[in-house]
Amino acid sequence: MISISWSDKFSIGVEMIDEQHKQLFNLINELNSNISGNSSKQIIASSLDALISYTGYHFREEEDYMFNVSYPRFEQHKVLHENLKEQVINFKKEFQEGGDDPERFLDFLYDWLTKHIMEQDKKIGKFMDLAVLRPIM
Ligand SMILES: [Fe+2]
Repeated sequence: MISISWSDKFSIGVEMIDEQHKQLFNLINELNSNISGNSSKQIIASSLDALISYTGYHFREEEDYMFNVSYPRFEQHKVLHENLKEQVINFKKEFQEGGDDPERFLDFLYDWLTKHIMEQDKKIGKFMDLAVLRPIM
């Protein structure tokens, strides 16, 4: 996988979430360079841990945000996060047991994240744009 860079096309228009997505891109790049640089399994595992824990943090923050603004698709969105978290944890387990290819996993993660931002997270930004236009009750 080539290194990925964040660009404005990924912006959902909510600054806190955009900043966290940038950090996720950084962590994916770090993991990628450890994998392609043939770093030790221990180093790869620790950058994987950093990515897993930041992903957990980011999902919690994004979910709190959705909840606080009464985002209507909150529950469905949360399920997507739960599914991804499960897949990442499963991958880590397989990786530690020597069974999964980290490069394949990175491709999957990159596809998941970019698609999720473009198709799901962007809807949060859209909802907020419209909320500005709604009269205050
Ligand atoms: Fe999300």
